[in-house]
Amino acid sequence: MNILLLGSGGREHALAWKIAQSKLVDQLFIAPGNAGTSNVGINVAMSAEDFDAIKEFTLANNLGMVVVGPEAPLVKGISDFFKNDEQLCQIPVVGPSKYGAQMEGSKEFAKQFMMRHDIPTAAYQAFTKETLQEGIAFLRTLQAPYVLKADGLAAGKGVLILSSLEEAEKELTDMLNGMFGDASATVVIEEFLSGIECSVFALTDGKDYVILPEAKDYKRIGEGDTGLNTGGMGSISPVSFADKTFMDKVEQRIVKPTIDGLNKEGIDYKGFVFFGLIKVNNEPYVIEYNCRMGDPETESVMLRLQNDLVELFQATFNGTLAQQTIRHDPRFAVSVMLVSGGYPGDYEKGKVITGLDQVEGSLVFHAGTAVKDGQVVTAGGRVMTVSSYGATKDEALAQSFAEAQKINYDGKYFRRDIGFDL
Ligand code: AMP
Ligand code: GLY
Repeated sequence: MNILLLGSGGREHALAWKIAQSKLVDQLFIAPGNAGTSNVGINVAMSAEDFDAIKEFTLANNLGMVVVGPEAPLVKGISDFFKNDEQLCQIPVVGPSKYGAQMEGSKEFAKQFMMRHDIPTAAYQAFTKETLQEGIAFLRTLQAPYVLKADGLAAGKGVLILSSLEEAEKELTDMLNGMFGDASATVVIEEFLSGIECSVFALTDGKDYVILPEAKDYKRIGEGDTGLNTGGMGSISPVSFADKTFMDKVEQRIVKPTIDGLNKEGIDYKGFVFFGLIKVNNEPYVIEYNCRMGDPETESVMLRLQNDLVELFQATFNGTLAQQTIRHDPRFAVSVMLVSGGYPGDYEKGKVITGLDQVEGSLVFHAGTAVKDGQVVTAGGRVMTVSSYGATKDEALAQSFAEAQKINYDGKYFRRDIGFDL
């Protein structure tokens, strides 16, 4: 079967690496991909959001499946686009319908869903410009810190955590006045939860599900989880506190009720559900849902998933998902993200990357890279992960750090403390 994978980040390189190992794949195309994905498949210069171009490509290349990496095409309705097209409707798209993608695309939708299905999450209320005064009154009933979330997609910047009431009132006002455009026309204000976070992933057909290896990601730019938020500086799997007792609670109280909720509500959802969780007094709570895999969690999770990923995708579409057993590699997997100097603030692109051919015993998953004049150059803030196995977390980390030293470009930075809190 020929498969098209949409997206261009580290998550997509890791998915492409895994898909390419499947015995079911003939040709793997990645659109638009990056310098790394071209080593495991064929890059196609096409936007992941250009549905008409994707249609033309799908028909011209006899595709048997489309796998969607990022959220944007899903929230824009790529699954519905295929389903509603006479020529495309038989081709499975791994990723939920536009309606289902609201689990990520609208924080208010997700919160209401969790309330309806009694899924543990922070208490909340939602406000619009018309109800700004009620929003301010609600903030005054809460204790610091204050959590404000833009309802819609805001490129990962839509969550503000503020330590003073004064700041929270100002930010709420600014958000409702268009700080994130339409994405913050509605703002969810929620109770602050204090605990340690982890990411759990399910693949579902909207009725049955399998749970993939869990992971923890590190979002802040600075060591010790300090400084600005980023798209993710590293990840690790397994997560020590996510032991059997904890994961049983996650499944019974969160994963199962979520999938049952999708089923009861008749929501068309065939794809990944990402549960962003926080452990508070040993109990799991949902911080957020995403309608796709996590980045950079995928770069570690794919190392630990022993199943044929395409076989799992097929099972998602032929009603046999419940019969699948997920097999975990017992080793630790870690991913250390190399970023551009200055990121997540301003940074320069186009820096020549050297040393990639020196890397041994680790996998390099490209994120923001491109090929220019025959050389691999930086093309984004997050450049690539160095992903490694180890019998212990420290062994895996030592391996990634050693290999990360061999890769060079002007301004290279990475955190040397991934997994420090586990
Ligand atoms: P999100 O974009 O929803 O993933 O939120 C970004 C980050 O904000 C999360 O990973 C958490 O670290 C933090 N966060 C979001 N909601 C809460 C909450 N209710 N309490 C504490 N931290 C939160
Ligand atoms: N690692 C968090 C995310 O993918 O949203």
